[in-house]
This record gives sequence, structure tokens and C-alpha cells, in this order.
Amino acid sequence: MKNIDWSTLGFGYSKTDFNVRCYYRDGKWSAPEISDSEMLSIHMASTCLHYGQEAFEGMKAFRGKDGKIRLFRCEENAKRMQASAEYVMMQAPSVELFTEAVVKAIKANEEYVPPYESGASLYIRPLLIGVGPQMGVAPSKEYMFVVFVAPVGPYFKEGFRTTKVMLERKYDRAAPNGTGHIKVGGNYASGMRSGVIAHDKGYSTAIFLDSKEKKYIDECGPANFFGIKDNSYITPASHTILPSITNASLMVLAEDMGLKVERRRIPVEELETFEEAGACGTAAVISPIGQIDDLENNKSICFGNPGVVGAWCTKLYHRLRAIQYGDEADKFGWITVVE
Ligand code: PLP
Ligand code: COI
Repeated sequence: MKNIDWSTLGFGYSKTDFNVRCYYRDGKWSAPEISDSEMLSIHMASTCLHYGQEAFEGMKAFRGKDGKIRLFRCEENAKRMQASAEYVMMQAPSVELFTEAVVKAIKANEEYVPPYESGASLYIRPLLIGVGPQMGVAPSKEYMFVVFVAPVGPYFKEGFRTTKVMLERKYDRAAPNGTGHIKVGGNYASGMRSGVIAHDKGYSTAIFLDSKEKKYIDECGPANFFGIKDNSYITPASHTILPSITNASLMVLAEDMGLKVERRRIPVEELETFEEAGACGTAAVISPIGQIDDLENNKSICFGNPGVVGAWCTKLYHRLRAIQYGDEADKFGWITVVE
């Protein structure tokens, strides 16, 4: 294993030894190739650069107590990349090719998969870009699929502690019938202004409202939102939200642990009735939300006791992590052991 101070890792890029690349040319995908370069050489008129033909994924692999590497729900990420690609008129790798490239990238960088005790993991970033030259606005005829990895710690610097988020009332992340439900770079560009404003004001991220009526809770930075009250796990149903694989998994676990699960619109006014709240995603895992500030109305909504993570967030977090690290049997079939 590499000599890295795993326990102090945050969420960021660091160089590993290899990445994996495939090309779509003349109507077919090439086999995955290993590269040791961090650079891509692409045409300056590539559609990804001008017209936003790009989609990406985020997933994690974990080293268990037994030393084995476990990959979490890879097939779901492969399918989501296909959905993203289809919407912005790109070609996508098959589930098999996606999985082969991901597994190859993990194996080639096995020494960067953090040890079990560190609580860190290997973040995997599959990237799909249009690389064919087009001057008119039209889909590229050529695509590149790249998978790179980096060992990471917690996304929000607080780790598994309560965090404060800012309610964004001014800017939208995605249009009502736009691209909010897929994982394309444009969504992150449009959300970046709010993210930076939130950080500058001391918040970990911004929580968006639906862009049509500005009444309902939407995405929470790079994560889905959920709230807990009256033994229910409640998460927004919205076309502009990315269908989070972490959230889908938490919904299964919540139900398994005796909570009722509701996917529906959440009016902003309902926030104050939640006993607990959290942001969830691959990078964020569960980030318990302690407080949401509505700066325009000079209002703070607090969940539970200050600085204390709620009981359900804690239980859900530990259950999910136990499955991911292989401490608990994989009864839902979410894990691929990388051998
Ligand atoms: N929402 C957005 C905007 C994201 O970027 C992510 C991260 O992938 C999520 C939600 C969480 O999705 P997942 O749990 O599949 O990582
Ligand atoms: C993830 O959770 O995988 C994400 O994509 C978050 C991110 C954009 C850093």
C-alpha cells in the first residue's frame, strides 16, 4: 500500500498511477486501455468543450477488514451514465464496458485503496466526453470514456458531524424540464455560483428550491436532501434532482429498519417540522444537517440539539458504511468484490 496519511485525507484530486480510457469511433467502442498520463489530448473543436457534451459519475470502492476491495452499486452508476448520455445525445458505454473499465482502474491502482481502519475510500470518477470536432451545434461522432480514481476522506470538512447549509432563493441549478435529473457538467457550472456564495458565508453548501415555483426543496449542493419525522424518511420527488444511488440505498435501509419512506414534494415551510435532516450522496455519504439558514427572511431552521447528530442519521450512516466496508452481509446485492 502507498505511504499516504490516509486519516487526514479530505475530498480532493490526487495523482494515482493509472487511468483507463476507451474511444467511440466509427460507430463502436474500443477495449479499455491503461494510461499513465494525467492529460487528455483532444480536438479544440470537441463538443464537450463548446456545447457541454459531457457526463460523469462518482462512485466508491472500500477495503474491508478482510483486505478485500468492495465496489458499491456499479451497475446503477453505469445505467445513470447511459441516461445522462442519452439525454444530451451522446454515445455511452454498455454496463459491461463501464464495469470492466472501472474494475481495471481499481486494480491498476490497488495500492491507493485506503486501509479499512482509516475510514477513507477510493473515489472513482468515470467521465464521458464528446471529442469529435463540430462547429455547428450537433452531437459529436466521437466520444472518449475515461475512468480515474483518487483516495478520499469526507466531502464536507466536518466529516460525520452536523453541518450548516444556506437556503438559495435567488439562483436556480436546473430548469424545470431541463437537465437536473442527469449528471452533466452544466448543472455543476450553474450551481457553482451558489456554492461559492454559501462557502464564503461560512456554509458547507447551498440548498436549492424548485426553479418553477420556488416553494419546494430541491438538491442540496452535490447531494440529495432527506428529512426525518414521525418515523418517516422523507425525500423530495422532483424532475430536477439527480436520482442519487446513495439516497435509493438509504430508502431501502430506512424501510428495512422500520421507517416509512415518502418521496414527495417538500414545501420549505415543512422544514421546521423535521426532527433530523441530512444531505446524502457518494461523496457526502450522509452529512447531517444541523441548521438551514434562510438569509433573505432572516430565519434559521434547526434540527435536533445543536451539534448533535440525530439517532436515525447515525443509524443509517453506520448501516450503509457497514455494508460498503463488508462488515455486514450484502443482503441487497449491492457489492462487487474486486478480485
Ligand atoms: N445530487 C447531485 C447534484 C450530485 O452531484 C450527487 C453526487 O453524485 C448526488 C445528488 C448523489 O448521488 P449519488 O448518491 O448517486 O452519488
Ligand atoms: C458524488 O457524490 O459522487 C459527486 O458527484 C459529488 C461531486 C460532484 C463532488
